[in-house]
Amino acid sequence: MLKQTLEQGRAATDAALERLLPAATQHPTSIHQAMRHSVFAGGKRLRPILAMEAGRMVAGSLPAGIEEVGAALEMLHTYSLIHDDLPALDNDDLRRGRPTCHKVFGEAVAILAGDALQTQAYEVLAQLHCPAEARVRIIAEIARGTGTIEGMIGGQVVDLEAEHTRPDIKMLEYIHRSKTAALITASVVSGGLYAGAGDSAVGQLRTFGQSIGLAFQIVDDVLDVTQTSEQLGKTAGKDMAAEKVTYPALFGIDESILQADALVNRACASLDSFAGGAETLKALAHFLVERKK
Ligand code: IPE
Ligand code: IPE
Ligand code: MG
Ligand code: MG
Ligand code: MG
Repeated sequence: MLKQTLEQGRAATDAALERLLPAATQHPTSIHQAMRHSVFAGGKRLRPILAMEAGRMVAGSLPAGIEEVGAALEMLHTYSLIHDDLPALDNDDLRRGRPTCHKVFGEAVAILAGDALQTQAYEVLAQLHCPAEARVRIIAEIARGTGTIEGMIGGQVVDLEAEHTRPDIKMLEYIHRSKTAALITASVVSGGLYAGAGDSAVGQLRTFGQSIGLAFQIVDDVLDVTQTSEQLGKTAGKDMAAEKVTYPALFGIDESILQADALVNRACASLDSFAGGAETLKALAHFLVERKK
């Protein structure tokens, strides 16, 4: 059941991305090849799947065209990964089982490929097949989630500035909530908005997204310690080497896993008013902490 949700969500996202990204043969080809190299390297597509399943829960069936919200989210997420891997940030050679964008295309094109994926995402969002008011709210939601104030970029800045400092729980939570939970929250909320969610449903989806988003990054930190690079498709053991502020560094692995589990339980409780309709989102929440990559 969950396996089917993951597979179908992934296929729908990939088909939309294939359609919405410029062809690799389109002039100037280097940038389009670089964008496609990173997008089609085999990500889990979790943000699109969360958006689609939130939409399905609110509307009762999968709203037509919602996979385009997912495609835009995946473009933004992939842009954040390309930039995260740059020598000036985490300096990583491996991503999604492939050499990182800058390793293949050089730093200049990698920076521009990230920029271009961001621009392309907003072009897609501007043309979503939903009422104009929902479209504008989705754009605002996603822009805020990826911005500098408690959004992805703000989190990345503090993540970098916190390297080699003593982990402090308030700073750690700020980093994780901003760099990762904010886009995951925007994904869940956008899916709901696309499906016509009212204020109360949006509030419940937001609470759900914030909790699973934090749990997601805690597990990312744990996997960095417990898995191999082959398993992850990205370099394992990087966080300790770079003296990153992480949950395992502050709490140890076992306590980090307990905290992630507690967050997922809290997230699921926030969807109780949707009753059986929330089953898939709840199953996805549990999958996020049980995943091995
Ligand atoms: C990795 O995200 C970066 C983080 C925010 C932790 P994912 O684990 O979703 O990466 P992909 O998309 O599957 O490659
Ligand atoms: C990255 O966090 C979060 C982003 C906004 C991309 P990490 O630096 O821990 O992500 P990985 O482990 O490289 O995927
Ligand atoms: Mg990073
Ligand atoms: Mg990184
Ligand atoms: Mg990590």
